[in-house]
Amino acid sequence: MRDIDDLIEKKTGLSIEEAMSIDDTNLYKKLGEETFWKLSTIFYTKVFNDEELWFRNIFKNRSLEDAIQNQVEFFIQRMGGPSYFSHRKGHPALIARHMDFNMKEKAAERWLYHMKEALSEVPAIDEDSKKRMMNYFTHTAYFLSIGVTGQQEARRNESGNL
Ligand code: HEM
Repeated sequence: MRDIDDLIEKKTGLSIEEAMSIDDTNLYKKLGEETFWKLSTIFYTKVFNDEELWFRNIFKNRSLEDAIQNQVEFFIQRMGGPSYFSHRKGHPALIARHMDFNMKEKAAERWLYHMKEALSEVPAIDEDSKKRMMNYFTHTAYFLSIGVTGQQEARRNESGNL
């Protein structure tokens, strides 16, 4: 994990401590469930209406309602609340769950662009919480991009050798 964390720090300027500072406080208790629903609803509404077709297309076979619910339940669980996501769907296994998608660095940047905008449109999220969440999202988006594209590449090479 060290190598990938170092690589992400080089790309984003964020140390692993900064990225995981969501764990130094209970954001679920601080912000409440309603706030997470607002955030994910605003985020995914932006994503599903993105003017950039290539990005919107990553989500084209999914329903807006399901995408919002999946994200809210995961965020609540990850940020100190009940394990709604795992009770309904099992282990988060984020890399495996993103294997079928375009997860290139450009996609991570676009995901983060919408998330930053969404965070700024939820007044209930104070500046400190916003910063912690954005740091975590940034690290995780790059982590997923590097992890998923690496495995997709390995798969392509394997099938090329058959
Ligand atoms: C890097 C850019 C990203 C792209 C292009 C992307 C794309 C997607 C897509 C297409 C889905 C399926 C929508 C659904 O039906 O739920 C999804 C689901 C999900 N994503 Fe991402 N994602 C990205 C980053 C992230 C990040 C940073 C996180 C966590 C902080 C995250 C957490 C999740 C979760 C929890 C689900 C639901 C998985 C499931 O229920 O099976 N994603 N993502």
